[in-house]
Amino acid sequence: MAQEYFQYKGISFPRLIYSEQGLREVENKFQVRDDDVFNVTYQKSGTVWMLEILSLIHSNGDPSRCRTVPNWDRGPWYETVLGLQTARSNQPPRLISSHLPIQLFAKSFFQSKAKVLYTVRNPKDVFVSLYHFAQIFRPYKEPGQLDQFLEQFLEGDVPFGSWFDHVKGWMGLRGHENFFWISYEELQQDLRGSVERICRFLGKQLDAQAMDGVVENASFQAMKQNKMSNFSLAPRFLLDQTHSSFLRKGIAGDWKNQLTTAQSENFDRVYREQMQGLELSFPWDE
Ligand code: A3P
Repeated sequence: MAQEYFQYKGISFPRLIYSEQGLREVENKFQVRDDDVFNVTYQKSGTVWMLEILSLIHSNGDPSRCRTVPNWDRGPWYETVLGLQTARSNQPPRLISSHLPIQLFAKSFFQSKAKVLYTVRNPKDVFVSLYHFAQIFRPYKEPGQLDQFLEQFLEGDVPFGSWFDHVKGWMGLRGHENFFWISYEELQQDLRGSVERICRFLGKQLDAQAMDGVVENASFQAMKQNKMSNFSLAPRFLLDQTHSSFLRKGIAGDWKNQLTTAQSENFDRVYREQMQGLELSFPWDE
């Protein structure tokens, strides 16, 4: 069963941790509450970083909960079989993570006042991060040669489908008052300023000390040392961090060390084709 994918409405999911029935339940039966907060990303865009930030904002910068409860229980990925159970049983206000493209998201969200925070990242860095992740995350197929995997990524032939479709789909909610987006690069450049913006969106006020607590405990170093956030508690059959880590480099622009000029130019060509007409500029477009 390991490394087998199935298709749900044209999108690939690894069989080991997802099921058609679970995805149908999420889409059609999951009851979104008005006080739910969703942490949504295309995979490898900074999901667990945002999860940590949101957990810490919720606890006014106090890291106790982040240091005692695994991140997958604090902000479960509700499309996974186990995450759905956790999301249903967690006490409100719930923090829920998701990599689902918008068309597979819980329908009840669209009639609710629940909030979505969507984090985007330079897709070249997403690709590089995913390439390394696919080598240690057991539900995923071995990525093989980088060049081959790049073709698959650009065609959307990877779990969760096309990065381009995901971003265009979710960005369609821009302007809605319960939708907020931010980039991984902005988090990198100005974490404190980003946390302030996130707090404004959530209607949450933090004093300076609480803000320090968020910024310090959501740093790459702090998260790497926290076993509730670095996935060292994940079972080996799911994640094998012997040769690489989930929290791998934590930088923007690593693609420059990993892609050839030809690969980067090919990426740019597909990017231009796919993103044309989207009146939006991202930090990496500059
Ligand atoms: P790299 O593989 O480039 O290091 P996701 O949580 O969506 O799977 O994304 C994982 C990526 O986010 C990894 O990127 C990881 O290192 C990075 N990341 C996680 N926490 C971070 C933090 N506090 N600061 C910077 N990057 C972080």
